[in-house]
Amino acid sequence: MSALMPPSDRLWWKEPIEKVELLWIALALLWAVLMFAMMPYWHVYGKQNLSNEAYKTTPEAYQKKVQAMVDQYTVRTDGVRNFPVVRPPAGSDIYMLARLWDWWPVLELEKDKSYRLHLSSMDWQHGFSLQPANINLQVLPGYEMVVTLTPNKAGEYSVVCNEYCGIGHHKMVGRIYVTE
Ligand code: CUA
Repeated sequence: MSALMPPSDRLWWKEPIEKVELLWIALALLWAVLMFAMMPYWHVYGKQNLSNEAYKTTPEAYQKKVQAMVDQYTVRTDGVRNFPVVRPPAGSDIYMLARLWDWWPVLELEKDKSYRLHLSSMDWQHGFSLQPANINLQVLPGYEMVVTLTPNKAGEYSVVCNEYCGIGHHKMVGRIYVTE
């Protein structure tokens, strides 16, 4: 058979499927189904993926809520740029906003207390990556994400932006303190 001459058997492609090929198709299908089932399973038992809520908002409306918390619970300022360090009551709703290129404000939390952490962006997509804990969330303008957070270790945590957001991306580092 060549590309110029027609094949002698014109239905050369129409043959029963080889057993081995069927076996591999079945194996691949089974594997895909298993991996699919692992997604909900891992969510519940793997403790890896966070359950979060998301609401529609606007940058202006979200900023107002953050500002209200900052006005009420700021205890001191931090760093060369004097960012407010906010210590909201245990169990309350706490807010952090992402913008080019800050996480604002600094939060101070109590160990073993639960908080509802709200996140949103003022401009475009940022990534909330809490170090050294392994938490990763996308932060988008127009959406308010809420995660329940219970710090189990005192210390200083960094919030690193892990979605490329421009020239200052590598400097977009925030701070969360956890006290005993
Ligand atoms: Cu914000 Cu990268």
